[in-house]
Amino acid sequence: MSELQNELRDRQLKYISLCGEEIRRREEELGRKLTACVVTFGCQMNARDSEKLLGILEQIGFVATESEEADIVIYNTCTVRENANSRVYGRLGRLHSMKKKNPDKLIGLCGCMAQEKGVIETIKRSYRYVDIVFGTFNVFAVAELLYNRFTSGSQVIDIWDSAKDIVEDLPTDRKFKFKSGVNIMYGCNNFCSYCIVPYVRGREKSREPEEIIAEISHLVADGVKEVMLLGQNVNSYGKSLEYPVTFAQLLKRIEQIDGLERIRFMTPHPKDLSDELIEVVGQSEKICNHIHLPLQSGSSRLLKLMNRHYTKESYLALVEKIRAGIPNVSITTDIIVGFPGETEEDFEDTLDVVRKSRFDSAFTFIYSKRTGTPAAEMEDQVPEDVVKERFNRLLKTVDEVAHEQIKRFEGTVQKVLVEDVSEHDPEYVTGRMTGNVLVHFKGDASLAGTVVPVRCTESKGFYYFGEKV
Ligand code: 5AD
Ligand code: SF4
Repeated sequence: MSELQNELRDRQLKYISLCGEEIRRREEELGRKLTACVVTFGCQMNARDSEKLLGILEQIGFVATESEEADIVIYNTCTVRENANSRVYGRLGRLHSMKKKNPDKLIGLCGCMAQEKGVIETIKRSYRYVDIVFGTFNVFAVAELLYNRFTSGSQVIDIWDSAKDIVEDLPTDRKFKFKSGVNIMYGCNNFCSYCIVPYVRGREKSREPEEIIAEISHLVADGVKEVMLLGQNVNSYGKSLEYPVTFAQLLKRIEQIDGLERIRFMTPHPKDLSDELIEVVGQSEKICNHIHLPLQSGSSRLLKLMNRHYTKESYLALVEKIRAGIPNVSITTDIIVGFPGETEEDFEDTLDVVRKSRFDSAFTFIYSKRTGTPAAEMEDQVPEDVVKERFNRLLKTVDEVAHEQIKRFEGTVQKVLVEDVSEHDPEYVTGRMTGNVLVHFKGDASLAGTVVPVRCTESKGFYYFGEKV
């Protein structure tokens, strides 16, 4: 770690300790521990940031809780779709009512929404009771912001516009002991025409491979068996480093880490998924046979308008190449319905690609107009009833294809990483196959975090019942 990194980390540790003093003072006054709740909206990157937030808050002295009655509540927001923002504003209103009863309650807002143009003005104007507001780049500085709030007595807003001096090695509180997300890069340079992410998460920036390897080695020493490497487009990992490294080369190095059993990654863009990557995944014991390959639309015409840089044909050819190179691979995807100007013919192309690509599952989204993106300016926004009707047809096709696909595991024995006791039946545990398909089978809590062979006995559409062998 560089000297600057050490300095920045020590600075945060100092603020953690200063906040700790304030929290202990309040604890004595109240005669009880103070609690902290971090609510995550959106993607895996936010989930990882929330683990960091909670880790720091616990280090300060808060006790984690899932109840929003907590002494500090932080909303880690997503802004990919418009209705996510309205929901957050509504929920802030509810927190305000609680704060009226408990004036010492602290409210924080961070994440992508805070990076969006206009949101800060709204917060300053109508949400004065929110105590700390920060973005996606300074999550690690939550203690510093909190301390500023304590000493200034007024709203603290600190939004950065790039990933300049990110501090990584501060305490985290992982949701799962045996699996963890790991950021390998930040930001996005792709500017898909519907997407707000490049505007709120800034330009692509890769972390040094040594830093990533060190973080994963620490995680493994702490009991982690599976990592999920996170980036908006992992295929462009390493291009801008002083000594460029490809994503496939990074994977090969991560594979060498003893004790690490599974490696996942998200998300590769179909426009630049390399043969080298397919080869590395295909040959690896540790890298999961799962490729999440966002399609967005099956129409070459719309893909061009979306600025995706591939066509229906090239996407289908890529799927075939992946299937040929990675035995028994699970391919999953993201699809948007109702992009401006989408015709019935365009939509039929999407259904066609779903059938031909044989996805194991798909996240399906109704297009949401995001102010500031090129698509928001496009004419021919598709009427709501047409979008809804297409969306339902898409869901039906995705379900049919997925059920058919998932059946291929019936009777086979798969390695399953056990996550937890089943929510529905305490005699069962739940785990995931390498393709990410869920399996429930008889077992107890002692299996959590281990990889066990399980025979897939009964397909239930999206998941399996099985038996440990
Ligand atoms: N409307 C609907 N879905 C969107 N996504 C991104 N932007 C939008 C939008 N404006 C979806 C894409 C992406 C996923 C994370 O969110 O499918 O892959
Ligand atoms: Fe958004 Fe496209 Fe970047 Fe994904 S690749 S974050 S969809 S702009």
